[in-house]
Amino acid sequence: MPGFRDFYPEDCAIRNYTFAAWREAARRFGFSEWDAPALEPLELFTEKSGEEIVSQLFNFEDKGGRKVSLRPEMTPSLARLIGARAGTLRRPVKWFGIGENYRYEKQQKGRLRAFYQFNADIFGEPGPSADAEVIALTVEALRAFGLQQKDFKIRLSDRTLWFLFLASVGLEDEALATKALGVVDKLERVSPEDALDMMKKALEGTSLDAGTLLAQVRAFIALDSLEALKKHFAGNAVIESRLADWTTLLETLGALGVADFVAVDLLIVRGLAYYTGFVFEAFQLGSEGRALAGGGRYDKLVKKLGGPDMPAVGFGMGDVTLRNLLEERGLMPEISFAPDFYALALSEDARRAALEDVGNLRRIGMRVEYAFKTGKFGKLIQAAEQTGARYALIYGPDEVAAGVVKVRDTRERREIAFPRAQLAAALADVLDNGLPVVEEPVCHGDGHCEHCTCGKKDAEQK
Ligand code: HAM
Repeated sequence: MPGFRDFYPEDCAIRNYTFAAWREAARRFGFSEWDAPALEPLELFTEKSGEEIVSQLFNFEDKGGRKVSLRPEMTPSLARLIGARAGTLRRPVKWFGIGENYRYEKQQKGRLRAFYQFNADIFGEPGPSADAEVIALTVEALRAFGLQQKDFKIRLSDRTLWFLFLASVGLEDEALATKALGVVDKLERVSPEDALDMMKKALEGTSLDAGTLLAQVRAFIALDSLEALKKHFAGNAVIESRLADWTTLLETLGALGVADFVAVDLLIVRGLAYYTGFVFEAFQLGSEGRALAGGGRYDKLVKKLGGPDMPAVGFGMGDVTLRNLLEERGLMPEISFAPDFYALALSEDARRAALEDVGNLRRIGMRVEYAFKTGKFGKLIQAAEQTGARYALIYGPDEVAAGVVKVRDTRERREIAFPRAQLAAALADVLDNGLPVVEEPVCHGDGHCEHCTCGKKDAEQK
């Protein structure tokens, strides 16, 4: 299936690592986890997510004749869940979710048809402190993977400010202003000629000149700091009052120690229909890439879905662009499938003893594999080394008769026998501190002295 991924064990390991880092970041911020079905009624998205996403839906009629769709995003489901319990939830509600989303997009680098998203959202807090909290979490979640200021930035913008600005240049009608914002959303990707054509279309039926508006829009976008915005709009009381929220937001981000990751960038307006206030996207730096995360405030969605008035703000972070970036920057950790111990038995009787120990060690949490077949030492130890296990547990008939097991460091190639009766404690110590170093024994050449390293016995058994 184009745009869908198979997950081999190494991919699952990366996915597990990614989800674990997301969960841990969310835990540090006090968010609780939620989930919902990946299949939802079609109308949940057709009415709430906006044109672009609707054109990308994986929708169909189920066998009961219901119009349904795989979720292209998690936000409408979340707003439904919150709306249904709004009366009993302690506010602010801070929830995070991790789930697979499906969008029928053209597959390209960083864009797939099935991808995972980490979502974190806050409900019930209308002020910029909640915006700051989710932006700070976006930053810290990315930092949890080792990404730094040179690797990404948060581009911060504001749809409220955009509407105020558009009204100030003659575009008071909200529906028209929304259309114009649709053009702004594409400015980064289209030629000036195409932008002009698109703006003409957006302004159809008005007396406004598309070229003039685009010039005003470009001058507005050039304001790339709070100071520049304050200077430009000095004396405009409505806009100044909105900029007071900007001050609170940026001061909070500064106090939380993440302001250096954030840049004012009014080119960001976000394509989804429900955003109402501050919006932001996390972008990688230093190489071309797509957004790592995107989000913003959506104060009207819960009510639109039948819930009470409930301000909301949050973001979604995808796993595809993140994985690409981590691999590009050498930040993906080495994945190891190696067990702690690999047990091998040199005879059938010894095998029973080995299995008994393997079972016991596994039950106390150690990661232990064993050779499914008994066999010659050389072959078995090779198999042990191939698993990447640092230590092999060697069960020969003599060891079992003596109530011991030989523990072999596969890198240093030395062995020490431990009594089986205290094996768990001995192995826990070996894992922490390595094999103990013992005095070089005097070799009697018969392979039977304690801690014998002459290999004679091994040689006999081969
Ligand atoms: P979004 O900007 O559509 O926002 O997606 C957020 C992130 O999901 C993107 O920045 C990107 O990393 C990833 N993503 C989106 N589409 C794809 C795709 N086709 N392939 C791979 N990755 C993709 C939302 O979805 C909002 N619901 C986020 C939100 C939560 N807003 C408020 N709360």
